[in-house]
Amino acid sequence: METITDVQTMQERCATARQAGRRIAFVPTMGYLHEGHLSLLREGRRRGDLLVLSIFVNPAQFGQGEDLDAYPRDLTRDSELARSAGVDLIFAPEARDVYPAGYATYVEVEGLTDTLCGRSRPGHFRGVTTVVCKLFNIVQPHMALFGRKDFQQLAVIRRMTRDLNLPVEIVGMPIVREPDGLAMSSRNVYLSADERRQALALIGAVRLAVKRVGEGERRAAVLIDAVRLRIEREPDASMDYVQICHADTLEDVETVDSDSVMLLAVRIGGTRLIDNHYLFQEV
Ligand code: PAJ
Repeated sequence: METITDVQTMQERCATARQAGRRIAFVPTMGYLHEGHLSLLREGRRRGDLLVLSIFVNPAQFGQGEDLDAYPRDLTRDSELARSAGVDLIFAPEARDVYPAGYATYVEVEGLTDTLCGRSRPGHFRGVTTVVCKLFNIVQPHMALFGRKDFQQLAVIRRMTRDLNLPVEIVGMPIVREPDGLAMSSRNVYLSADERRQALALIGAVRLAVKRVGEGERRAAVLIDAVRLRIEREPDASMDYVQICHADTLEDVETVDSDSVMLLAVRIGGTRLIDNHYLFQEV
């Protein structure tokens, strides 16, 4: 396994591998790896000949007052985990090389980014699509793997890839959870022991909604009210959003069916957590 920080070196290395007929599988991350990231790497290892991991805390996707500086970083630990998952190349560039002085070009997906996290984090998805597009041009992967934990991000990246005719297969992967149901996230390290307990409100709310749907409830508004009440039971929880959307369009639905996904973002103390689940699927 090799770690490359230089953009041009990375691009040349990947171009050479591609020309030699190797199928490149790519997993973009912001590092501080956990089982969720590792599940993507293992699937990438299975599908590709050259497994590339990028680790880059992308300043362009963080808003004013968000956790860019506090975001957990540990390249030594990440490298060990990457090696054990069979990674061939780690790309870990510096922000000044990804966005050099005079940088002026951004990729923006319309529509899908107006709702959910796009509404509560203006500019976030513009930063995500810009960096993912740049990473695709540097790594030139045949396929890239993303987690459904970031359900809207996956939809936005699929849209960008289609709209810009990028020759990359986008692979969506299931959410990996802790044994008690909390979705794994690099941000979970921010939680105190008490907040960690309160964070179970997210999966609790998902289970509650799935149960109500199982009992026959189909009205999105009723399910959303029940979820709000469940979240508000926790003293340090505040609801950012809870919406029930069509999985492809991300448009709000009034009546739940098998294409309906519930998506929620909740602040526990100072930590913003997200989760989602298809309402017709068991948790
Ligand atoms: P990051 O939050 O590090 O996540 C990297 C990838 O891991 C994303 O595709 C995300 O959906 C996936 N992932 C995170 N937690 C997961 C879990 N519990 N189960 C399954 N997959 C999980 O998402 C980003 O970084 C950035 O926005 C990025 C795409 C790298 C652009 O900067």
